[in-house]
Amino acid sequence: MKIAFATSECVPYVKTGGLADVGGALPKALAQAGCEVKVFLPLYGSISTLDHELILAEELRNIQVRIGSQLVAVNIWYGKLPQSQVAVYFIDCPHYYHRPHPYTNDPDEDERFILLQHTVIQILQRYNWAPDIVHCNDWHTGLLPALLKLNYNWDHLFSATACILSIHNIGYQGRFGRESVGKAGLPYDQYYPGGPLEFDDSFCFLKTGIMYSEIISTVSETYAHEIQTAAYGAGMEGVLAARSSDLSGILNGIDTEVWNPQKDKLIPHRYSARSLARKKKNKQALLEQAKLPFDEDVAVLGIVTRLTKQKGIELLQPIIHEVMQLPLQIVALGSGEKELEDFLKWAALTYKDKFSACIGYDNELAHLITAGADMFLMPSLYEPCGLNQMYSLNYGTVPIVRKTGGLADTVKDYHEYYGEGNGLAFNDFTPHALYLTILRARDLFQNKQTWHEIMQRGMRQDFSWQASAKRYIELYKKAKVRHADL
Ligand code: ADP
Ligand code: GLC
Repeated sequence: MKIAFATSECVPYVKTGGLADVGGALPKALAQAGCEVKVFLPLYGSISTLDHELILAEELRNIQVRIGSQLVAVNIWYGKLPQSQVAVYFIDCPHYYHRPHPYTNDPDEDERFILLQHTVIQILQRYNWAPDIVHCNDWHTGLLPALLKLNYNWDHLFSATACILSIHNIGYQGRFGRESVGKAGLPYDQYYPGGPLEFDDSFCFLKTGIMYSEIISTVSETYAHEIQTAAYGAGMEGVLAARSSDLSGILNGIDTEVWNPQKDKLIPHRYSARSLARKKKNKQALLEQAKLPFDEDVAVLGIVTRLTKQKGIELLQPIIHEVMQLPLQIVALGSGEKELEDFLKWAALTYKDKFSACIGYDNELAHLITAGADMFLMPSLYEPCGLNQMYSLNYGTVPIVRKTGGLADTVKDYHEYYGEGNGLAFNDFTPHALYLTILRARDLFQNKQTWHEIMQRGMRQDFSWQASAKRYIELYKKAKVRHADL
């Protein structure tokens, strides 16, 4: 099967969150399962063509792409995802993509991703490469299904092409003014209250994707149910419920070449479930780096996160004083909203021997925290899939999570009576519920035998991409059938 995979982020080139991990790993897993995959991505200013050994596509030099009434010139670079046969095409247009961050609040944010999507189609046409599936991810690529069906339906190249939209986060919808419909080149007659392009008086890229894709997926089964409810749907619940029979959840995998305690080159001491003494050495190294005293019997709770409301770090605020009275240290790494950054900085100043905060984005430290901490905290308000809890499980670092989305599907609360569970999970999004769970974690941590068993259960699980890639291929087949039915 031929898959065109369009994304706004992809490891190792550009990453702001888990979408990048998926963009780097799923195409590889699909290729291993026998698919031919091409990935499409903007060439952001931060991506070095030299470091990644990218090649300028001479035959695609200076192609002209229409955004509304203007023609924009773009170049295309290409390379291969490391250790794979997956081709990656980079859309090069400094005017749009050389900005301080991959995402902006600039008034032409819509144009930046309209350009990406029209260019994807042009590249496919120029290479005469007919994909079986165009796999879109989040709002940035949500217009592709509509463009193929409404604007490029004259092109026989795409007559057998079906689309799937993967929703990684319903909180980001790509909503713009009506005039943006014209910039995208889509027909205005599809924009009317309640129409396929319109949502809440805006032109909504995500809704457009939901309406025109044959199949919609999201990144965990629980989240697939949640987003059809008012509490989690961010207004899109009705639109999704109407397409319920075409919506399913597939849990992300993790790249076990990168997030594997036996192979991890970014941690000082590699280990496995059979050499957990070496994990303790990582704890020592972590505390040394965090400038906190080491005590084997004091549990280290790790946090690595974007600091947004989604991640629930605010729950820690009202209980931090009580938590800091426990035999527990916290090492937090994150960046994002100022208020949350300030809280972490304040806690580090106030609880000098117990709390360490690193504000910023630091992949190496993220690996060290995952390996060196005893526990890992993810009290998310919502979490489509979540990768850090799976990394933690793989590293024998016991996750403490709120039971939502992918967290609910991967972390099973420890059950004393049955002796089951790989972590701790709580339901209510309240500081009190979190506090009670941290108390339980403290008690369990003191019972070395039980704790060891919980760690081992996590480390024995298989979170590799193979199983998920197989499920995507099933979904692709379903999308093809839907397309043929149209
Ligand atoms: P989301 O995509 O919502 O941020 P995920 O759990 O799916 O959540 O993925 C987050 C990814 O980003 C993980 O790979 C995590 O290690 C990484 N990450 C998040 N914040 C930071 C940070 N401050 N420094 C380094 N890595 C981070
Ligand atoms: C989003 C979600 C996260 C998910 C990631 C990759 O960023 O917030 O839960 O793991 O996408 O699918």
